[in-house]
Amino acid sequence: MTVWLTGALGAGKTTLVRGLLRALGYTGRVKSPTFALVEVYPFSSFTLYHFDLYRLSDPLEWEEAGLREYFNARSLCLIEWPERAAGRLPAADVEIRLEFAADGRQALLQGRTEAGRACVRGLAT
Ligand SMILES: Nc1ncnc2c1ncn2[C@@H]1O[C@H](COP(=O)(O)OP(=O)(O)OP(=O)(O)O)[C@@H](O)[C@H]1O
Ligand SMILES: [Mg+2]
Repeated sequence: MTVWLTGALGAGKTTLVRGLLRALGYTGRVKSPTFALVEVYPFSSFTLYHFDLYRLSDPLEWEEAGLREYFNARSLCLIEWPERAAGRLPAADVEIRLEFAADGRQALLQGRTEAGRACVRGLAT
């Protein structure tokens, strides 16, 4: 599954990924992958890849980095700044848009594929 995380600088994208990893039982350090482009978290039945493409200066760099192979049936890919790889990223199943709200953040979730819509419906119930 591919999840795009959008929203301004500091909107809480990395914090949301950290919360998800904690909920999955990961207790180690969760750092922002701004310099590495991707951090990898192996779980027993899938691998979670946390991308931050903020530093991608040219969408071509995405192809050169060979990151496409990380998108497969056994991966959950969460991508901050997907717009930096414009047109080259695998399509999102779910897009989560974070916005500043009075005392925290507001998250807008949109399912973009059948699987993604099922996920969002699951959360809503
Ligand atoms: N839901 C929240 N409520 C209150 N504070 C939050 C929330 N989410 C994040 N923050 C705070 O906002 C700051 C920025 O968060 P974070 O690094 O997750 O943003 P980001 O969207 O990943 O930014 P960037 O675009 O720079 O990668 C942090 O200090 C974090 O603790
Ligand atoms: Mg971040």
